[in-house]
Amino acid sequence: MIPRFKPDIRLSDMLLLLASGNRTKAIQSFESTFAKLAGQREAIAFPYGRTALFMMLKALDLHASGKSEIICPSYTCVVVAHAITLSGHTPVFVDSANHGYNMDWKETEKATNEKTGAIIVTSIFGNPIDAKQLENYRARHPSVIILQDCAHSFMASTAEGALVNMLGKAAFYGLNISKIITSIFGGMVTTDDIDFAHLLREIRDREIAPPSLRKAIQRRLYFIAAYVAFVPPVYGMVNWLERKGYLARFAQYYDPTKINLPSDAFEGLSAIEARIGQLQCSRYAYIIAHRRKIARLYFEGLGGVKELTLPENASGATWSHFVIYTPKAKDIIAKCLAHGIQLGELIDYDIIDMPAYQNAIYHGTHRAREFVHNVINLPVHVGVSEKDARRIVDVITLCAST
Ligand SMILES: Cc1ncc(COP(=O)(O)O)c(C=O)c1O
Repeated sequence: MIPRFKPDIRLSDMLLLLASGNRTKAIQSFESTFAKLAGQREAIAFPYGRTALFMMLKALDLHASGKSEIICPSYTCVVVAHAITLSGHTPVFVDSANHGYNMDWKETEKATNEKTGAIIVTSIFGNPIDAKQLENYRARHPSVIILQDCAHSFMASTAEGALVNMLGKAAFYGLNISKIITSIFGGMVTTDDIDFAHLLREIRDREIAPPSLRKAIQRRLYFIAAYVAFVPPVYGMVNWLERKGYLARFAQYYDPTKINLPSDAFEGLSAIEARIGQLQCSRYAYIIAHRRKIARLYFEGLGGVKELTLPENASGATWSHFVIYTPKAKDIIAKCLAHGIQLGELIDYDIIDMPAYQNAIYHGTHRAREFVHNVINLPVHVGVSEKDARRIVDVITLCAST
């Protein structure tokens, strides 16, 4: 079975479970490695990406200048909206532009007013945002703070070759096991603004408690379980359990009716998470090169296949997901599964249609609604060989044409 995602966790990584030493030092070391990777002066670690966003919004103190609204895509991970709301701000949702899936700049312009404090610019699925549009927006609205959501786009670059994480006041990342690189859970902020970094670190150290022993143990057990779950014969069983709904507690990360954060959202990153995160940074180049190679094979093999709309082929994309739009999504998912290929369905909602947000401020024509049941993502992780990719192309081509 080829899983829809797979972290690059190796048996040798298990040795890190035995490491001991100072947590603060482990985190500092992870932060400085991550900052180098991102080409930025500072990196600040958090227990989740959403906690990082929550704390940045607190640190910006936008209310002091009468700003309360934060613009974000309607087609993004719902936890972004939760962090905005629970940090005391009003999310303002903007529709996607097209099959590049990123936020529509015309709608973003309409959504901007004197209450707009910040905008969460998101290169969804690793597809880099259009830097020219961002520059035009910034020129028209110099007081709006730009935060880059890089949870899908670790060090993606624009058509002009700029790293997206650098195109704003700060960038944030999610580091759970489904991400490009992982620290088990965890989140990170990168910035070149030293004063902002100091302020953010100060707030983090004041408001986030050190992890409990329970959390440190749970993270270790989760890491072992994640390693075992992705071992090939075991994954078939995991997939069966998932389909039967037995793993919903682990896989379901949101409740459409609730606006909440995990109970440990304000418990600090554990030492083991920092050590794993640091190790993963050293694999970043290999992981991205692999993802780009597999994406290239998909473009070569699936270009021109009827009923499929391929994603934008941006040279600086990092392919957190290789997303295809097709009215045959359900059928293709089922047929691929029968061939031992699991496809993903991320993101299978438009936030504005969730009960928790249906009365929120929205700008758009609900283009993203179309994506919900019609997008599938193809595996691009390090567990997919070139041969696997060609087989996936063949199976999808057959399904799409019957
Ligand atoms: C686009 C996007 N932004 C932000 C986040 C938040 O990251 P975390 O789950 O670490 O809070 C995610 C999470 O998966 C995401 O997909």
